[in-house]
Amino acid sequence: MKAMISATARYLPEKIITNADLEKIVDTNDEWIRTRTGISERRMVAPGQATADMGTRAVQKILDKTGISPDEIDIIILATITPDLPFPATAALIQNNLGAKNAWGFDLSGACTGFLYALEAGAKFVESGKYSKVIVIGADTMSAILNYEDRNTCILFGDGAGAVLLEPSEDDSGIIDAKLHIDGNGAQFLYMPAGGSLKPTSHETVANKEHYVIQDGQAVFKVAAKGMADVSLEILERNNFSGSDVKLFIPHQANKRIIDVSARRCGFTEEQVVLNIGKYGNTTGATIPIGIDESVENGRLVKGDLLLLAAFGAGYTWGSTLIRW
Ligand code: UT7
Repeated sequence: MKAMISATARYLPEKIITNADLEKIVDTNDEWIRTRTGISERRMVAPGQATADMGTRAVQKILDKTGISPDEIDIIILATITPDLPFPATAALIQNNLGAKNAWGFDLSGACTGFLYALEAGAKFVESGKYSKVIVIGADTMSAILNYEDRNTCILFGDGAGAVLLEPSEDDSGIIDAKLHIDGNGAQFLYMPAGGSLKPTSHETVANKEHYVIQDGQAVFKVAAKGMADVSLEILERNNFSGSDVKLFIPHQANKRIIDVSARRCGFTEEQVVLNIGKYGNTTGATIPIGIDESVENGRLVKGDLLLLAAFGAGYTWGSTLIRW
């Protein structure tokens, strides 16, 4: 039995931060940001709003669209690196907001590949035959962990959430395959230094600005471009498909230049590639489910299409998922 994505939704906060807004707070400019990353603007949560709220709103839209009641949800899996609290799990807060009284769930930390990890986990629960309604969310409040004095990082990220419902497939559609990786050799190039059990929060860690994203952009760029392209090609080949069989490629949106490398290596045309980094920046765990939902909404993705997802992120984590829509 295969698991299929039977419904999708997204939530983006209303507040828009443009490149011109960032020019006022760090030494950067619109031209540099657009040509180096492809980003024009990104969203930011309202005061008091965070990951659980965005995730809840996305799932609520799925419930509204499908007519499914909250007590029918079996599992809530949330991919995030920006939980509302260190514990309990933000999935619990979302469960409570929704009133999903028969669900269990958990948070999963896979950074930019988090949604693909969560999708694979969710699919296996459905395939087991034990669970039939699994919610998978990718949501991140990156503005909470950005140093708005660091132009290397603060221009890159945005806030947002996307969610999908996984159910057993009754025909050929569904998740065909996933190839996922993790390699902690990459931890030193993209991380948050403090606030965990190794270096708990102290006056010193706060004064040293150690609660923000630190990234060696160039180091990550090289491995991300190669890693995402390699894994996309690998999953196509091992399932006997080529680039021309794919209707849509929805890659993680970290940098347009990284996406271009993967698209070129797989032989994709512009029409095959979903690109929304210009509007939202890098929303970490949320980029792929946001891209899926937009593609469904605007008719780029229809039943029977072959969909390829790919991501690369902190860890390092990376992977690719192949879906018959
Ligand atoms: O999603 C998780 C995975 N993360 C990624 O995939 C990100 C991968 N890395 C990247 O996307 C790119 O490396 C960045 C967009 C982060 C940086 O682009 P780059 O082309 O690698 O630039 P760079 O770091 O080599 O910096 C080039 C120049 C430097 O100035 P000098 O030393 O040449 O004078 C930087 O100081 O650009 C400067 N610079 C900026 N200038 C204006 C760095 N950030 C900015 C900025 N505005 N915001």
